[in-house]
Amino acid sequence: MSLSSPLFVRMAARSDLEGLARLELDAWGHRAAPLAQLQRRLEEPGFETVIVSRGDEIIAFAQAARLTLESLALKSTWTDMAAGRPNPGGTLLYGINLSARTGPAASGAGRVALDALLALVVHRQLVMFVAGGRLPGFRAWSHCCSAAVYARLHAIGDEIYHVDADGVVRLVGGRSLANLAERIATPASWSFLPERKEQRVRLECEPVDPFVRMLSAARCCGLGVQLVGILPDYYMDPESLDNGLLYAWTNPFVVADRKLTLQEMSVRVASGRMFYPI
Ligand SMILES: CC(C)(COP(=O)(O)OP(=O)(O)OC[C@H]1O[C@@H](n2cnc3c(N)ncnc32)[C@H](O)[C@@H]1OP(=O)(O)O)[C@@H](O)C(=O)NCCC(=O)NCCS
Repeated sequence: MSLSSPLFVRMAARSDLEGLARLELDAWGHRAAPLAQLQRRLEEPGFETVIVSRGDEIIAFAQAARLTLESLALKSTWTDMAAGRPNPGGTLLYGINLSARTGPAASGAGRVALDALLALVVHRQLVMFVAGGRLPGFRAWSHCCSAAVYARLHAIGDEIYHVDADGVVRLVGGRSLANLAERIATPASWSFLPERKEQRVRLECEPVDPFVRMLSAARCCGLGVQLVGILPDYYMDPESLDNGLLYAWTNPFVVADRKLTLQEMSVRVASGRMFYPI
């Protein structure tokens, strides 16, 4: 199938089980979900699966469970979330799987699957999308900083910046600095930028972590996802040192009586065992 063939996005059907299982195995190897689990997510009400295909080949898929806002803080590891029962009437969509083929023929398909879940939130008139992602580059940086700091490191060429939750950009140092680890570990040494340079850097810099980079490109109705915090011991993942990255997207079109703001979510998750604010 040629690279210029269009991508198609659709909801999965039961007949997709085999194709999903093949891709799941390619993406996750020995950590792949068993067939019965994939089947349950295709058949049980409250689960949603979106598929990205090129021609007949499934090149990415994303799965999520409908939950109530109240149930969010009660379950905090990926295993809990993936094994739990969804609530088909819940107004929150919780991401439990994102898998894509690798290589140039599928590049970016995972992000398209994530975009499709965000669009589903709008289509189903849900309040928000929440998920725990990976930090696959963290192990290599873990001698320099916490996962929370790492998730917010950005780069332009050789320069490393930290962008905080309010979008404030500070220069941490250059990749080639001998004392980069020390600089990253001491936020007091980071420099504020002149306003015009800050604007340019904010537009051009890219997250250091590949998964956060993928997230930064996800978009629906012009809005991107927001990083909420780190979930230590979220699932076994040597590259992320078991850290999950909690991220969220709020549907701008739903005027709910009660939306869960990111700040509220931080406080709720913090009261469990899993959260450190970034
Ligand atoms: C994460 C994933 C869905 C992204 O798919 P995608 O949007 O199609 O993105 P790509 O495959 O083009 O990869 C995006 C970038 O991440 C990099 N990347 C992907 N996995 C990586 C890993 N484990 N370690 C380091 N870099 C990785 C790619 O090299 C690419 O880098 P670039 O931005 O410099 O080009 C896909 O890589 C995947 O299925 N990974 C295995 C399963 C997984 O991690 N799922 C996420 C669960 S939360």
